[in-house]
Amino acid sequence: MAHDINPWSSNQTLDVGKLFSEFGIEPITPAISDLPEIPYFMRRGIVVGHRDYRQIASAIKNKTPFHILTGFMPSGHPHLGHLMVMKEVVWHVQQGGNGYVTIADREAYAVRGTSWEKCRDFGKEYLACLYALGFEGTTYFQSRNERLKDLAFEAATKVNFSELTAIYGFSPETDLAHAECVITQVADILYPQIDRVPAPTLVPVGIDQDPHIRLTRGVAHKMRMFTVEERNGYVSVRSKNAPDAALAAVHKAFAGSKKYEGHVDIRDAQCADVSVKVREIERAHGGYAFYMPSSTYHIFMPGLNGGKMSSSIPESIISFYEPEAMMRKKVMSGITGGRMTLEEQKRLGGEPDTCSLFLLNLFHMVTDDTDLAEIRRKCLSGEILCGQCKKDTAERVVAFLKDFKEKMDAAADNIVV
Ligand code: TRP
Ligand code: SF4
Repeated sequence: MAHDINPWSSNQTLDVGKLFSEFGIEPITPAISDLPEIPYFMRRGIVVGHRDYRQIASAIKNKTPFHILTGFMPSGHPHLGHLMVMKEVVWHVQQGGNGYVTIADREAYAVRGTSWEKCRDFGKEYLACLYALGFEGTTYFQSRNERLKDLAFEAATKVNFSELTAIYGFSPETDLAHAECVITQVADILYPQIDRVPAPTLVPVGIDQDPHIRLTRGVAHKMRMFTVEERNGYVSVRSKNAPDAALAAVHKAFAGSKKYEGHVDIRDAQCADVSVKVREIERAHGGYAFYMPSSTYHIFMPGLNGGKMSSSIPESIISFYEPEAMMRKKVMSGITGGRMTLEEQKRLGGEPDTCSLFLLNLFHMVTDDTDLAEIRRKCLSGEILCGQCKKDTAERVVAFLKDFKEKMDAAADNIVV
């Protein structure tokens, strides 16, 4: 069923293989061969899937414009579980992307009942994290972005309730604000293309956000004036709702093209070149010329108690505001991939791939690949035992948080909202 993935329910276990086969998310590895440098979150199997990432990889390679956008719902303090997406954004900004971050205060208010004041405070904390990681670009709060709201309204003309029911499982009892949140998020994802230029846009998200991506891709397509398609030996440009003058302009732009009722056929042309020109014409006639957004999906870092890292389960999260002693205690009592007895662990080794501590190191605490491989090897061979490994990890976490908190504090002074 399509609404197997529900962005508003927590604690779901997701089967990556099933996502690939049922939802059309593709494995990341074949799509990144063009990248000049493979970031650690792709090398280490944290980012596992994508939609249309190739257009982003080639924009990076060819140094053509692209946008990178994500969003956070300010319904609580940011924590370590939010860091992965932030790092993806920052890395893509460093690769030349135009950075955008939306604070989804409308969603927090409508879906979680967070007061506007709290939204503001939490929102600032998310922004401080981002700047601490080196983010550069545009940030905004949904509730205060008028152009975003106008775009959401226009996008709303392309979505009906049966679609929302199919995608999100909306029922007649679902309140209207939920639908508003959905369409606001669609507008978020398209926003960089109206704020700057139409260009490929990458949206790194957790897998739970995929319904929004699918919906937005559909809306982006519906908001176009034209479709451009490779046919047998020619390129066909079809008007969906283009003004006559725009179709005439397409005809005029390609010498030897043939104009029919509602479409223009162009021989001896590359589809990609025609697409670029048609976008220009669409823009010149008041259209949006949107690219369909791309996305990446990462696996979730497990909480220290094994389940999902979620603000609603305090033991599961590592907060940036945690006192040091508490932090150590959480790490020391984390669920490991260790064996029942010491003897067994020495003989069989531990199981790093299901160990919340190992994954914590893999996600954020050990930046050097060789060091990480060494921890894994020692674990597998039984050379290191969980007690020592936890202590080492706790030291890393404490050092990491101290440094990060300082950077956050420095950034916070400059955030005015
Ligand atoms: N719905 C997202 C969440 O629950 C927040 C969000 C709002 C978002 N707008 C976005 C995420 C745009 C990615 C892109 O966290
Ligand atoms: Fe996890 Fe370390 Fe124990 Fe291995 S030795 S299972 S990585 S805590």
